[in-house]
Amino acid sequence: MSTMSTPTGVAMMSGLVYTPGGRGGFDWAASSLPVPVVKKGSKKVLVKVLAVGLNAADVRLTQMPYVARFAAKGVVGMDFVGKVMNAPVGSTFKDGDVVFGTSSSMLADYALCDDGSDPKAPVMVLPALVSVEQAAGLSMAGTTALKGLRLACTKGSPEEQGLAGKRVLVLGASGGVGVFGVQIAKLMGASFVAGVCSGANGEMVRGLGCDEVWDYKAPGFEFPTEEDALFDVILDTASSMFPGDVDYYPRAIKSLKPGSGQYVAVGSGLWSDIFKMVASFMLPRWLSPQKKQFLAFVSSENRPDLDTLAAWVASGRLVVPVGSVMPFAEEPCKEALAVVESRRTKGKLVIRMQD
Ligand SMILES: NC(=O)c1ccc[n+]([C@@H]2O[C@H](COP(=O)([O-])OP(=O)(O)OC[C@H]3O[C@@H](n4cnc5c(N)ncnc54)[C@H](OP(=O)(O)O)[C@@H]3O)[C@@H](O)[C@H]2O)c1
Repeated sequence: MSTMSTPTGVAMMSGLVYTPGGRGGFDWAASSLPVPVVKKGSKKVLVKVLAVGLNAADVRLTQMPYVARFAAKGVVGMDFVGKVMNAPVGSTFKDGDVVFGTSSSMLADYALCDDGSDPKAPVMVLPALVSVEQAAGLSMAGTTALKGLRLACTKGSPEEQGLAGKRVLVLGASGGVGVFGVQIAKLMGASFVAGVCSGANGEMVRGLGCDEVWDYKAPGFEFPTEEDALFDVILDTASSMFPGDVDYYPRAIKSLKPGSGQYVAVGSGLWSDIFKMVASFMLPRWLSPQKKQFLAFVSSENRPDLDTLAAWVASGRLVVPVGSVMPFAEEPCKEALAVVESRRTKGKLVIRMQD
């Protein structure tokens, strides 16, 4: 137990917080954060945090234009695994249950999450066959890949093979969303999945079932344009408006089937994407400038999707490639977030607390 008490008896804990004042960056709060208290009627439970999976979203707030950056405040971290403490009346969880999902302010010794009474809230008991590290890396990235590919389904749910026979290209196939995109496309019936990532991560991505992996750093790399090599779906997890990121759209769109092809922008946020979205929805395909369906979306974690993802992991059909596990301490936490910020995460990066 890593809490301390102040002279007034308030229990204090450690955690990583956003540097106050919208200045970007992160500060370590050593035993100086009050342990959160469950407010009566709030439908929250206190958890002792066991692990936190990092996401691009954890650093994106600090990279926003100046005023928007003020939104980056408080404790960092969303995807978590935690042990339920003092479960209140009405919670579907009991003391000692290990739960996982997405909430806020998780990169600390203790945190609050939904109490399980809302069947849609993104938190559930850890299934027996899913490890703490796997669960920490699953929720946000898995849900995002699932939602992005569902949008591209012409019929049926993932379980009904909604991408049966389709050719899917995943850009950023080695990152958090990409590693799930490759696998979920196959689980949804895609007949051929290609991934784009750096050569160093090619083997890992191939191991996830990718039929072909292309190294975007290889000299002369180009997206294919031959008719029989075109794709039904492009899931773009690499492009974004943030500094240093690419915009693949102008090159990759040439690999999408005219008429039926769907370009799903996961990172998006580019102003030009808003124009493409509007054009996609307002104009008939033949009149729209890109002549292909362009989709951007905001993912929202939810219990039904967590159930689907956790069942796939428990049955061994979905792998959570955890690239590294770092201990919960100042330097490793800051180092881990610097890796996320650099967009060089391999699979998922997990911070592990002591049990
Ligand atoms: N729409 C939503 O609701 C939603 C939800 C979650 C995430 N997102 C966004 O989706 C994006 C992906 O998130 P994430 O968690 O997967 O990020 P991530 O884990 O940080 O992505 C890292 C990966 O990006 C790859 N990458 C970087 N530059 C690349 C390039 N030029 N070409 C191909 N791959 C490249 C890297 O591959 P290599 O190291 O192999 O180069 C690395 O594996 C982010 O922009 C995030 O903000 C959106």
